[in-house]
Amino acid sequence: MSKALRYLSQTRPEAATNLMGFYKHSVVALDEKTRFLIQIVTKITVGTERGLRQYAPKALKAGATKEEILDAAMMAFPAAGLNKLLDAINILNDLDLLPEVEEADSNKDVSNDLGALEQFAIGRMQSVKRPSGDLIVFRATADKLAVYEARCPHSKSNLCDGTDHGNRVECRVHNWIFDLESGKCIEPIKEGKQQDLIKVPASVVDGHIVLQ
Ligand code: FES
Repeated sequence: MSKALRYLSQTRPEAATNLMGFYKHSVVALDEKTRFLIQIVTKITVGTERGLRQYAPKALKAGATKEEILDAAMMAFPAAGLNKLLDAINILNDLDLLPEVEEADSNKDVSNDLGALEQFAIGRMQSVKRPSGDLIVFRATADKLAVYEARCPHSKSNLCDGTDHGNRVECRVHNWIFDLESGKCIEPIKEGKQQDLIKVPASVVDGHIVLQ
C-alpha cells in the first residue's frame, strides 16, 4: 500500500475502505492478467509513471509475456500519443519488462573502471550511468566502499532518481528505504517483505574503482 493510501486509511478509513473495495470488486469477468494489461494501457494514456511502475510488473507476475506487455503499451498509442508512449517504453525497459533486443556494440560498457576514487565523496550516494545498467556508489569511510545495482529490488525503479538521505536512499515510487553502507532494506519494516540492494563486486585498483 502506498504512503498516501495508508494515510487516507488512517484519516478517512471509511472512504479508503470503500475505495479499495471498489477496485477489488468492480471487475469480475476479466482474468488477472488481462486486468493488469489493461491497467498498462490506462496508466500510459493518463501518463502516470508511478501507476505504470506499479502495475506493469504485476502483469508479468500474472502470466503476461514481455511481448504482451509491449502490445499493451502499443495499444495506448492512439489515445496517449507518441511522447507518452516513448516515455512508457523507457520506463518498461527500465523495469526489464520488454522483449530483449540485440544491443549495438556502442551500447556495451567499454570499461569496468568507474573512475578515480577521489571523485566519489565520502558519505554521499553517487550515481554512475552505464549502458548495461546504472550503479550506485557509496563510500562510508575513506576505505569502505560499496557498489550496488541502481534498480530498486522492489519494483525496479531507478534509485539514481531516489531521494538522497546521506547514508540512505529512498525510492520515489513506493518509498522503500535502503542503508547504503550495508545495502539493507530498512523500510518497510515488515518481516519477510524487505529485499536488499544488489551488491556489485568492486575494488580499488591504482586509485580507481574497478568492477570485478
Ligand atoms: S519500486 Fe517500489 S519501492 Fe522502489
